[in-house]
Amino acid sequence: MKKFNVGIIGATGMVGQRFALLLENHPWFNVTTLAASANSAGKSYKEAVGNRWAMKNPMPEKFSGMTVLDAEKDIETIVSNVDFVFCAVNMKKDEIKALEETYAKHECPVISNNSAHRFTPDVPMIIPEINADHAEIIKSQRERLGTKRGFIAVKSNCSLQSYVPAIYPLDKFGVDKVLVCTYQAISGAGKTFERWPEMIDNVIPYIGGEEEKSEKEPLKIWGEIKNGEIVPSENPKFTAQCLRVPVSDGHMAAVYVSFKNKPSKEEIIDTWANFKGEPQDLDLPLAPKQFLNYFTEDNMPQTKLNRDLEKGMAVSIGRLREDSQYDYKFVCLSHNTLRGAAGGAVLLAELLCAKGYID
Ligand SMILES: NC(=O)c1ccc[n+]([C@@H]2O[C@H](COP(=O)([O-])OP(=O)(O)OC[C@H]3O[C@@H](n4cnc5c(N)ncnc54)[C@H](OP(=O)(O)O)[C@@H]3O)[C@@H](O)[C@H]2O)c1
Repeated sequence: MKKFNVGIIGATGMVGQRFALLLENHPWFNVTTLAASANSAGKSYKEAVGNRWAMKNPMPEKFSGMTVLDAEKDIETIVSNVDFVFCAVNMKKDEIKALEETYAKHECPVISNNSAHRFTPDVPMIIPEINADHAEIIKSQRERLGTKRGFIAVKSNCSLQSYVPAIYPLDKFGVDKVLVCTYQAISGAGKTFERWPEMIDNVIPYIGGEEEKSEKEPLKIWGEIKNGEIVPSENPKFTAQCLRVPVSDGHMAAVYVSFKNKPSKEEIIDTWANFKGEPQDLDLPLAPKQFLNYFTEDNMPQTKLNRDLEKGMAVSIGRLREDSQYDYKFVCLSHNTLRGAAGGAVLLAELLCAKGYID
């Protein structure tokens, strides 16, 4: 695979910092450009991040002296230095929409962590193991944007990266309805305990917009391409409650599911054990070897023990048992800033490069 020059837009933020670590020694991607807001522009990466570095590993030496560019004003310079960009910015939704479209129209593909374009009908929202085929919509999007290379592809919200991978392969038994309660880490809000001391010894039963995303986004993942659009599925039905819990990294979900054709417990566990997608078939650099991992111990998975499984790209599942109101219940765990954010985006970029959508 050729080396691609890439930029990180929003490099100073929580997700941007994860990108910096993941891309430090990436075999295909070479970071040439770091960009953020006008506040950071002109400063070295180290200076711009200041005391906001929130990762356990130190800032990569090779990036610390790089000058941060202004994601909006320096766009011409940025697109001339990269083959594509990763984007994770904290701006108003319509500003993000416009920014990402501007990059795409400058013939620069955008792999986005932001929610702004998740429901644009010709923008694919991809979990690479599940709906890699939705990349085919890029052709229609390019026609709309009038571009040859440029397009936007997004990843879904971090909350659903734990339970959608576990539920999707079970649809061969006809998943009917799903109830999910998520227990979400504070890094999902771009925070650490130092910056959010109110979260110590606390649970907040509200995350703005999260329940709607957790119920609606899976239906686009289940959707079908028709007449140049991804038409969301009407089933399965999802209902969600999302809580913020005092955990640094790792979103847990408690899931209840009913089927049209109820499988046995063994059939479910077997389905998870054998599930793989294009990232595994293509042996992509960041693909977990085993995507879905079922733990038989009653007290597993645990956030602290399992969130980093396979570089934080695998999903851990446990406690599968019958339920009195739904057919089954179980728990799932995924790392929210790795599989749920920067890692999911890097895997998506690897997929799109491997399949020739980015050249
Ligand atoms: N944290 C997660 O687990 C997670 C998961 C999935 C998706 N996301 C999404 O990823 C995005 C970033 O989240 P985050 O947690 O990394 O946020 P964050 O820590 O607040 O970082 C925000 C980034 O956006 C930049 N920014 C702000 N205004 C800008 C502007 N006008 N132009 C260009 N850059 C600007 C900031 O630059 P300055 O430092 O210069 O202000 C910073 O680099 C959000 O859309 C979020 O919803 C986050």
